[in-house]
Amino acid sequence: MSALLLNPGPVTLSERVRQALLQPDLCHREAEFASLQARIRDDLLGVYGLPAGIWSAVLLTGSGTAAVEALLTSLLPRTGTVLVIENGVYGERMTRIAALHGIGHVRVTHPWGGALDLARIEQALEATPGITHVAVVHHETTTGRLNDLARLGALCRAGGVRLLVDAVSSFGGELIDFAGWGVSACAATANKCLHGVPGTAFVIAERAVLDACCEPARSLYLDLGAYARAQDGGGTPFTQSVHAFYALAAALAELAQEGGWQARRRRYAELQQIVRDGLGALGVTPLHAAAESSVVLSAYALPPAIDYRLLHDHLKERGFVIYAGQGDLAARIFRVSTMGALTDGDLHRFVDAVSVLLKPG
Ligand SMILES: Cc1ncc(COP(=O)(O)O)c(C=O)c1O
Repeated sequence: MSALLLNPGPVTLSERVRQALLQPDLCHREAEFASLQARIRDDLLGVYGLPAGIWSAVLLTGSGTAAVEALLTSLLPRTGTVLVIENGVYGERMTRIAALHGIGHVRVTHPWGGALDLARIEQALEATPGITHVAVVHHETTTGRLNDLARLGALCRAGGVRLLVDAVSSFGGELIDFAGWGVSACAATANKCLHGVPGTAFVIAERAVLDACCEPARSLYLDLGAYARAQDGGGTPFTQSVHAFYALAAALAELAQEGGWQARRRRYAELQQIVRDGLGALGVTPLHAAAESSVVLSAYALPPAIDYRLLHDHLKERGFVIYAGQGDLAARIFRVSTMGALTDGDLHRFVDAVSVLLKPG
């Protein structure tokens, strides 16, 4: 039996997106592919109303990490230094990427799940000469915290540094105020809030920023400059995940018809409320208050004497896949996402399934 996915991507597909995978076989050097690619690039910009003259969407075949790695390795000049903000696994991953590629970097660390300490970030910006960029995760999926990019963006603007955002688990499901926050570029993926399938990821950047990509490139495969030039000409440097492109095009059309990211955000919030209320009634508490949490995912404290594996297996037998905590949080939390083609009834049944374990009889 296939289970409903309440993990943070890949998501349970709508029938329309699943059927889109069955379209004709297509060569990535043919005109039909060029028009599919162009449509997806336009529609990605359209999600947040970004004008195509100023912004560009670059499509990659890979997972979200490929897009984040492309973002950092392509957009940091060889003389640049990035200040990486860490409050979970994915912020720490950006530091690892910078270190692996020999990119100059400094870190501002927080406990996982902690709110951004803007005073410390400001101090680090002032104290470290030569910082050109700040890199941050928007929705830190490790704990469900939604980082405050409005205030961070204002600090970056005041300091004259560019803001690079890992929006892998927020793009399409949360507000991203590109102009207001001063976002220079962000990385994201098809298979989370956009409800596509795994295999396609993307970076959205200002055209001027892409024109100034690191030369010579740090990576052959993840060179955003090369992708942008090829895609502007209707081509692609490498074979793309054609069927995942079909699915992403269908998913973007579905998002637009449903009312865009704002409607999706409202829907996620409703679904998340069902889970928060239902689990709350069973004595299961969320890690973050709703105001600090994304609507995409919430982490909950594992109830006393309930081991994650037991909870996971119990729920999987009843048709739901949840997600474990990472690192030290593995023994303390579990995570529930409400992305994907889910109904209110699905989440009520999920809560009922949890209650069978916690309140037997
Ligand atoms: C915020 C964030 N960044 C990056 C990633 C990495 O994405 P992937 O596993 O698709 O490489 C994830 C995955 O969950 C994520 O949530």
